[in-house]
Amino acid sequence: MCILSAVTRTLRLTVHRRQTLSVDGFVSGGRRFKSGASKHVGQNWLTTIETTPGKYKTIDDLRGPSLATTVYWLFVKGYADKSHAMQVEHKKLYGPIWRSRFGPFDVVNVASPELISQVIRQEGRYPVRTELPHWKEYRDMRGQAYGLHVVTGLQWYRIRSVLNPKMLKLAEVSAYAPVIHQVVGDLLQRIERLRLRSQDHTTVPDLTAELYKFGFEAQGLIDHKLAQMDAQVLAGKKLDGMYLTYLLSCDKLTLGEVYISITELLLGGVDTTSNTLSWALYQLARDAASQDRLYREIVSVCPGRQQPRSEDLSRMPYLKAVIKETLRMYPVVPGNGRLTVDNDVVLDNYWFPKKTQFHLCHYAASHDEGEFVDAESFRPERWLRGDPESYQHHPYSSIPFGMGVRACVGKRVAELEMYFALSRLIQHYEIQPEDGAPTTEPKTRTLLIPSKPINLRFLPRA
Ligand code: HEM
Repeated sequence: MCILSAVTRTLRLTVHRRQTLSVDGFVSGGRRFKSGASKHVGQNWLTTIETTPGKYKTIDDLRGPSLATTVYWLFVKGYADKSHAMQVEHKKLYGPIWRSRFGPFDVVNVASPELISQVIRQEGRYPVRTELPHWKEYRDMRGQAYGLHVVTGLQWYRIRSVLNPKMLKLAEVSAYAPVIHQVVGDLLQRIERLRLRSQDHTTVPDLTAELYKFGFEAQGLIDHKLAQMDAQVLAGKKLDGMYLTYLLSCDKLTLGEVYISITELLLGGVDTTSNTLSWALYQLARDAASQDRLYREIVSVCPGRQQPRSEDLSRMPYLKAVIKETLRMYPVVPGNGRLTVDNDVVLDNYWFPKKTQFHLCHYAASHDEGEFVDAESFRPERWLRGDPESYQHHPYSSIPFGMGVRACVGKRVAELEMYFALSRLIQHYEIQPEDGAPTTEPKTRTLLIPSKPINLRFLPRA
């Protein structure tokens, strides 16, 4: 083993161990590595690695498209709305790490699960996705508070620590089950109306648009809740109840922060779940065997069209596998960012200074044949423990909600929403594609969305 790779390996071990150990400084191959004070914040350990940058490769050693090449890819080769596919093509051309320059942007792209995990492990105490100066300026101008998506540092940590207990604990999130079921009930009624209104009495056109409305019905419920709380306060009654009440009455957030948090939770939750559900239904419609297996599982756990309860979900591994596989194929956030503000970063044998902008290419990682055999096929079985189709894959190969302390705060709510909606729809209908419907490819509009409307046939089950 050459010295460089031995050093890199040791360093990687340091990085891996960081979650459980505080690592003492050591000297290796004439290079001095010193782990600084390790501090624990949530699950995240920060270790400062002091190194001599000159001994490593740097950003200047990375290959990648120039500005002119990027313009050619985007506007001549037609990748402007297919940046997810461009990740895959660039990975083939340059390998799992490359540099892109576009105007003021200078970005290091990482597209293998191993490199993605190395970035996240070194993301620092208060991870930053990217700088959003215009958004901040706009909110400053209007005297509005920043929300979770843009705040950084201690301010972000303060808001997150108020939201986390109610958003990430399964027991707490289960309390939303009745509200979600109410919305799913409305969705079923609307699907039924639309289907009956159609010419063939089965087809629901542009399903994503319908599911979007379903996601947004949280909005109405929140307005309703605010009005209820106002009335309670006016009547001098004590506030009790769920999430909003908690946010407004915990005294840890300003009113402006509560408003922006709610807005961001709404924005974060609408497109993401509606697109994922559309893709799940699109794939199930084309894969009768998977749909049948899902139907049989749902019926066995919830016979007679019973509404699934949160505790039933532990007996529905295939339902969960369907959502996982959907998010692997169509990660609604196809690429994410990390701007390392606290510390330098070492990835394999590259060194990057603070303030390097990384682009985590989740789409390319979750479509890698090395991780997922037959990656372009919808195979929920690959996520089932003990199934002949299941196999080990790198834990960072498909992380649609992100990973680490800045990962999606709505993950649990999103999952609950999608499990309930999908199981209820499949209880009631057999889903089929329209006759001769062509395949629908995804496109990137910040999020990964269908490139054309998805029309599906909903046949009532006996
Ligand atoms: C299929 C559904 C969803 C997916 C795939 C998804 C994915 C993501 C991803 C990848 C991030 C960035 C994480 C990171 O930087 O490491 C994120 C952040 C976030 N998501 Fe979601 N999301 C979904 C649903 C939701 C829902 C339902 C909500 C709200 C109830 C939500 C609220 C948020 C918020 C507020 C953030 C910012 C968190 C922070 O910066 O601390 N998301 N989401």
